[in-house]
Amino acid sequence: MCRVYGNVFPPIPLLKQKMNHSITMSQEQIACLLANAFFCTFPRRNSRKQEYANYPDIHLFRLFEGSSPKKIEKLKTLFCYFRRVTEKQPTGLVTFTRQSLTRFPEWESSAKQLTKLHITCEGTIEDQGYGMLQVDFANRMVGGGVTGNGLVQEEIRFMINPELIVARLFTEAMDNNECLVVTGTEQYSKYTGYAESYRWAGNHKDEIPRDDWQRKCTEIVAIDALKFKNFLDQFQPEKINRELNKAYCGFVRPGVRSDNLPAVATGNWGCGVFLGDSRLKALLQILVAAEVGRDVAYFTFGDADLMRDVHKMHSFLTERNVTVGTVYRLLMQYYSTVCEPCSSSRPDVSLYAFIYDCVCSSAASLDSDSAAARPDVPADFR
Ligand code: APR
Repeated sequence: MCRVYGNVFPPIPLLKQKMNHSITMSQEQIACLLANAFFCTFPRRNSRKQEYANYPDIHLFRLFEGSSPKKIEKLKTLFCYFRRVTEKQPTGLVTFTRQSLTRFPEWESSAKQLTKLHITCEGTIEDQGYGMLQVDFANRMVGGGVTGNGLVQEEIRFMINPELIVARLFTEAMDNNECLVVTGTEQYSKYTGYAESYRWAGNHKDEIPRDDWQRKCTEIVAIDALKFKNFLDQFQPEKINRELNKAYCGFVRPGVRSDNLPAVATGNWGCGVFLGDSRLKALLQILVAAEVGRDVAYFTFGDADLMRDVHKMHSFLTERNVTVGTVYRLLMQYYSTVCEPCSSSRPDVSLYAFIYDCVCSSAASLDSDSAAARPDVPADFR
């Protein structure tokens, strides 16, 4: 309970693990909570040892420590937000939804065909992803290093849309089968650069329309990828399954017809700080989007080679009506025939080369009865 001028208010509910629950609050309430985060006034949130040990930090005191240019630019971005909301009180709402799934697709037997892909090495998720489900390359502690020194994709998004930060007050660390969807946050700042070169670049007037609930039509989903120390680990079946199911949790909307679902605006999820392989992660996200019936807008963040490789692979698979299940089985085969026996740190055959070879050789062998004799030819090519 909290008491204000003698009135007793119920505490803010927590989005705990295993919960499927939503919290909707006004932008004005969020501004008040963020002011408390700035002045570090939330009780029992200064120490990780107590009841909030499994929740992200909410207090912003680390931004006042030291004189790193990153922290100065972050403070400029936050001051821009606080100035805006004190000059003109925002009138919208924001919804925070924790999604925790217990059932996932049988990836191996999926007969789904791939959906459409728009891939570009220009632009960013937040600038070109209007109207789409925009992916936050998250940490399991949502917001990651936003209250400290972090300043890559997630932290930048939390800085320019600061209402996202309040999720750290009530969102417990995400488990492998969970995600957080935030609908309605407003962008208050422009920025340039990235990581060390990030600079606040002035006020941003967010022209995105509001829905019937007066929420900005910006839907952001926080999904945390796995961090890999060794390149080959990410091809292990259990790691592939974990990433597919995590993205599935983020992209699926139980009870909503797929033809009503906007495209996913994503990119090199798990391939920066978390050291994942961008070609693998692009393929996994394409499979998941196909499974839920969403198209994909993929931003390679300047990587033209990646754009070409992923576009070529997507076209190749689409032209041959290769299903999600078939690609999944090829991923499993790639691990067992290339990665598992590999004694060096990197495989001698790339994933995409393996897929091209399997699909092409199986198509060729379909003309002869040698298919049955080819153990490397996936069963449904025989
Ligand atoms: N739009 C599209 N792509 C982007 C954008 C953007 N705005 N910003 C970055 N990228 C691309 C870059 O290529 C980057 O290397 O996404 C890649 C991955 O970004 P990371 O933030 O490094 O994501 P990840 O590897 O999943 O690491 C997540 O970093 O931000 C923290 O809290 C986060 O701890 C978590 C970790």
